[in-house]
Amino acid sequence: MNTSLHFDRRLWPQDLAGSRAHARMLAAAGIIGAGERDELLRGLDLVEAELRDGTFPFRDDDEDIHMAVERRLTELVGPVGGKLHTARSRNDQVATDVALFTRAEARRAIERIEALAGALVARAEEHVDVPLPGYTHLQRAQPVYLAHHLLAYVWMLLRDRERFAFVAERSVANLPLGAGALAGTNFPTDRRMVAEELGFAGVAPNSIDAVSNRDFVIDFIAAAATCLTHLSRLGSELVIWSSSEFGFVRMPDAWSSGSSIMPQKKNPDAAELLRAKAPRVVGHLAGLYGVMHALPLTYNKDMQEDKEPLFDTVDTLEVALEAARGMIEGATFDRERMAAAASDDLIAATDIADLYVRRGMPFRQAHGIVGGLVREAVEAGIPLREVESEHLDEEARALLERSSWLESKDTEGGTASRRVREQLEAARAALAAPAR
Ligand code: ARG
Repeated sequence: MNTSLHFDRRLWPQDLAGSRAHARMLAAAGIIGAGERDELLRGLDLVEAELRDGTFPFRDDDEDIHMAVERRLTELVGPVGGKLHTARSRNDQVATDVALFTRAEARRAIERIEALAGALVARAEEHVDVPLPGYTHLQRAQPVYLAHHLLAYVWMLLRDRERFAFVAERSVANLPLGAGALAGTNFPTDRRMVAEELGFAGVAPNSIDAVSNRDFVIDFIAAAATCLTHLSRLGSELVIWSSSEFGFVRMPDAWSSGSSIMPQKKNPDAAELLRAKAPRVVGHLAGLYGVMHALPLTYNKDMQEDKEPLFDTVDTLEVALEAARGMIEGATFDRERMAAAASDDLIAATDIADLYVRRGMPFRQAHGIVGGLVREAVEAGIPLREVESEHLDEEARALLERSSWLESKDTEGGTASRRVREQLEAARAALAAPAR
């Protein structure tokens, strides 16, 4: 129950980085000697080598990774190993390790998000002129270009990138180490020196807050939950689009699997999983809120429960972003199927209504008239342009023939080719600029 080693051993790189910085600072501040520092650093190198090649002798009574490292260090370099924990507590140590871990993972998430967004931009570029129906309520609504649709995901991902940048640079800004157990330490430590070595912008200004704070874990999981929610919508669309009913996309074999019994089937498994991943991370967020809520200051062992949700979030986000990129890069979009679905002239109903509006008719009335025309067409099973009606004059029929529906959506952010090209440039520029 008490032990966390089976999961927190994953923090060893951060634990070693923190310990090295701490040892250097202890010597610089005259709290230990230079020779002792060198022994500690040599020992930490030996410990690292063992952790790296898997020969580190973990013991059943190692409570967590922090205790295991210190225990092994002392075995390797003797009693001087016991000096490493001077002016430090596991409370500020674990907060520091988790902060370093979270920052590194937020930066990796940014790279993966950029890779996926880059893949979407490239596919958008290839499909600037392919119309497909845009949907509301999953009913054909108005045609859009495929590039426009794909770019919608790029903007979501760019916002996700901002959220992870916030986690990496702001939420993890201040060094917890040096807070000691909760009140500060009895030694003349130099926290700024440690902060600098570990890449923190500053030191946590309140030792109580420093050991109590897990906001950065919450922020990371929240950013991941939002990102995965975006990816779930992409996964969902790939599932729908790859059905025979839609036939808009063929998923790459590497991201699909055959049915064990029905030879004709190709299942979009990876897209389905992409669709399903978000809720577990949303659950982790709810779980961690539960752990932290109403906790009295300062450190409480409850907080050890921050790690498994964080680690699973990191792993889930990584596979989801990689899978999404693989699927987007390998998907084959069926231009003909999409264009055919978008050429159904019912889809131009709004444009006809807008034509009447431009002539001065109130929108509600125009909407009613066109609604009637559409009903007639659907009931007779004919295209809208073949409906006999005084309302479908020459200009209105021309709208139906010309397929001018996309190019007329020329407002900023609309689907007209010119606007989509503009958007492609903007997306490329935003991606090339560093996350803020
Ligand atoms: N394994 C603990 C955790 O993950 C480390 C900190 C323990 N500190 C303590 N005073 N028991 O939170």
